[in-house]
Amino acid sequence: MNLLEIAKARYSCRNFKPDLVEKDKIMTLLEAARVAPSGVNFQPWHFIVIQSSENLEKIHQAYKREWLKTAPLIIVACGDHDLSWRRNDGKDILDIDVTIAIDHLILQATELGLGTCWVCNFNVIRLKENLKLPDHIEPIAIIPIGYPNDVTDPDRHDIKRKSLNEIVHWESISIL
Ligand SMILES: Cc1cc2nc3c(=O)[nH]c(=O)nc-3n(C[C@H](O)[C@H](O)[C@H](O)COP(=O)(O)O)c2cc1C
Repeated sequence: MNLLEIAKARYSCRNFKPDLVEKDKIMTLLEAARVAPSGVNFQPWHFIVIQSSENLEKIHQAYKREWLKTAPLIIVACGDHDLSWRRNDGKDILDIDVTIAIDHLILQATELGLGTCWVCNFNVIRLKENLKLPDHIEPIAIIPIGYPNDVTDPDRHDIKRKSLNEIVHWESISIL
């Protein structure tokens, strides 16, 4: 698959087979995240790899969805507010940096035939407590990963996404 094919093949998988994800594939996912760009190359991220049932349960407590229990692997992508670059106007770009790394990881997973889902709607306080994260480390997303136990419509982007006409503006934007 080329990059556009991988981007179109990715979807939010919420049903996984129990098969474990091989260690070499996990390492490839992490390598894809590692090489992501970041503001001033500060790389303000940490990735917590969770496979034990005890620690998976700690994640479930922070995002109580039955489907999440089907994931044999969860990677919690965290940002370090002590490391991230701040623009002159004070904007902390941590979310941008970590998001790019997560997207590298997710697209790599797709290329390897693995399903993933972005999850941000978790209980932050519970997750920080359960993973014993210090104050300056923010969990940005939890990414359940595994072999998909569902299928998706290959033409869904024609229906589920806005058209280019709606979102692209050549030279200037007139809708604001
Ligand atoms: C930043 C972000 C946060 C998301 N958080 C959640 C979440 O907490 N739970 C969930 O089930 N899906 C979550 N999603 C998945 C979106 O609902 C999904 O990407 C969107 O509906 C498009 O569907 P698709 O991923 O299958 O193309 C999130 C997606 C993104 C990009």
